[in-house]
Amino acid sequence: MERTGFTYDFPRDSLLSVGDLNPLDVQMIFERARHHFDAARHNEENTRTLAGLTQIHLFFENSTRTQASFEIAARRLGADVVNFIPGNASISKGESLNDTALTLAAMRSDILVVRHRAAGAAAHFARVTGVPTINAGDGAHEHPTQALLDAFTLARRWGGIGGKRILIVGDILHSRVARSNISLLNLLHADVRLCGPATLLPADADRWGVSVFHDIDEALEGCDAVMALRIQKERMTGKLTPSDREFATLWGLTHQRLERAAQDCLIMHPGPINRGVEIDEALADDLDRTVILEQVESGVAVRSAILELVTGRAPNQSIADMRTHDVDDRRDEA
Ligand code: NCD
Repeated sequence: MERTGFTYDFPRDSLLSVGDLNPLDVQMIFERARHHFDAARHNEENTRTLAGLTQIHLFFENSTRTQASFEIAARRLGADVVNFIPGNASISKGESLNDTALTLAAMRSDILVVRHRAAGAAAHFARVTGVPTINAGDGAHEHPTQALLDAFTLARRWGGIGGKRILIVGDILHSRVARSNISLLNLLHADVRLCGPATLLPADADRWGVSVFHDIDEALEGCDAVMALRIQKERMTGKLTPSDREFATLWGLTHQRLERAAQDCLIMHPGPINRGVEIDEALADDLDRTVILEQVESGVAVRSAILELVTGRAPNQSIADMRTHDVDDRRDEA
């Protein structure tokens, strides 16, 4: 079939959930992110695709990697970035979230990047303001750009995700990173496994299209990548969790434990890491195994791509020119 000239426009003006994306959207994000990743590695001059746009960051929860990488991505592409600091803002004088949102929209901002402890907060900002909004983490619900940068990191390494066995280990219950990753990895036809203390696994996890394990050594069998997650103590009300020491003994990743995984199994972590708890020191520093800093590097590239796509500033991309391997369904071959 003649495909040349057939184009596909990224159809969203916000990115709130992985569930908003289809495989072609993911392909477009990866394709553009690959351009930014290579350009940064080769110190190429940036295209000023976001010139003239104002991006407002509303981080009501702490952030290091996510906020910095959104800011670096936006500035490199020529946008102006305003960091709204909740503690200094009128919220602390009693202004409601709605009024804050409407005030910022009245300043003609072009992009909002929102992190908040409440599930649905970014969607709420998008609805109230009508401004393209990116969810940078809403409570324990979703963190779509993290999942995209994780999958992009793996797709760059492997060429594709379909059929790969990926284990997510730790506090699944409170993790927005786990939720977004599970949706995205399922969309890309990976074989997803979950493992962790019973109290930190959602009761209905076996209905999420994943395999659930309690024993890490069993779970690691044949894995191509393992994603370790921090215990989100800030989201816990009761004492659901084992001590750090107990967690490290029963679920912590070590070189020895990885012997059951695939030989070149990759170790991932969204950060921040608690060394000696989720991953032991030696493994965390083993650059043949861990791709944790590469995830950070991918974060800038993937967020650059997303900012361009949600604002309609990405160069036209012809489907015929896109590589298809990231979204190939390899389940039958695996
Ligand atoms: C994660 C988050 O904030 O959800 N971190 C991140 O965005 N890189 C995970 C975490 O805080 O443990």
